[in-house]
Amino acid sequence: MSCYRGGRVFCRGSRSAVPGVVTGKARTPRDGGRAGRFPLVSRAVADDTPSDGEVVPLADTFVSASGSPYEGKRALVFGATGGTGKEIVKECNAQGIPCSLFVRSKQKAQEMFDAEIETGAVVNEVFEGDVSKYEDVLRAVENSGCNCIMVATGCRPALDPLGPFQVDYSGTANIVSAANRQGASVEHVVLVTSIGVDDIFFPLNLFFGVLFWKKRAEETLQRSGSNYKYTIVRPGGLQDEPKGSPGAVRLGPADTYGLPPRKAPGSILRSQVAEICVSSLAEEAAFNKTIECVAANDEPALPIAEQLEAI
Ligand SMILES: NC(=O)c1ccc[n+]([C@@H]2O[C@H](COP(=O)([O-])OP(=O)(O)OC[C@H]3O[C@@H](n4cnc5c(N)ncnc54)[C@H](OP(=O)(O)O)[C@@H]3O)[C@@H](O)[C@H]2O)c1
Repeated sequence: MSCYRGGRVFCRGSRSAVPGVVTGKARTPRDGGRAGRFPLVSRAVADDTPSDGEVVPLADTFVSASGSPYEGKRALVFGATGGTGKEIVKECNAQGIPCSLFVRSKQKAQEMFDAEIETGAVVNEVFEGDVSKYEDVLRAVENSGCNCIMVATGCRPALDPLGPFQVDYSGTANIVSAANRQGASVEHVVLVTSIGVDDIFFPLNLFFGVLFWKKRAEETLQRSGSNYKYTIVRPGGLQDEPKGSPGAVRLGPADTYGLPPRKAPGSILRSQVAEICVSSLAEEAAFNKTIECVAANDEPALPIAEQLEAI
């Protein structure tokens, strides 16, 4: 496993007109200031403020805006180069949460997030590794300085018979175990699994029991007995682009969606899932809960916080 510091690779700082304050492109929220969003702001750093073009370790440079519910949060995103993981990184950046990434290919991460840097988002540190190797996972969790862990890894079960066990179960168990070893420094673990994990007859299980193993991973997190909070997010079918209107996010408790008599599983945008994952870091109503999510066109949009309260 290898890693490299965002200070060298991803994070750029430039001298501000105000002595001791580093500013850069990273202060503008990507979303153009949607309600409830918090821009990144700089904070004073020591006298050795870098000159233009020099790089600054992210954790020493940026904090989320004062009063943000995400203030002080530092995320480590597993599966950051995947469809949902990439959206989680973007959403973290929009909310001012510095991110470290755990990826299989740092080259892929660099290509993927180069644009993010150009548009002003922030990536802190990249760890290259395989979630099925405990030593890779432990090293990232120990060295990232994160206090929130977001897990958006997943195998391609149709192509990889061992993937559901190795990635979806064992990989997540490794992350949980590494988090447990950090004591109080890890505060929250958010795990993306899937609608249908409670039902052994759900058709996706034909792919080498992928939902069966996701359910075992959920249980490992729930039973870890650690002091940190957890949130399990189970989406319906994932999409990158909406077919027509994206629909309003609908949240429900475990076992709301799936095979009859449950509601039809439906679909949801990966960006909507990312928003739920990141919101759950700040919404008390998401703590220690399993949340199923889809997007529906025939129902009114309700705030995520309000829906979480009802679960
Ligand atoms: N697709 C759906 O419709 C659907 C529906 C419900 C739930 N889900 C679940 O939701 C989650 C996110 O789905 P997605 O479609 O966004 O995922 P995805 O695009 O397939 O991304 C999966 C990520 O996991 C990484 N990964 C795979 N094996 C790994 C390993 N051994 N070590 C480290 N990283 C590894 C991949 O790395 P690379 O980038 O290097 O490939 C990728 O970044 C998954 O758990 C998925 O099963 C999917």
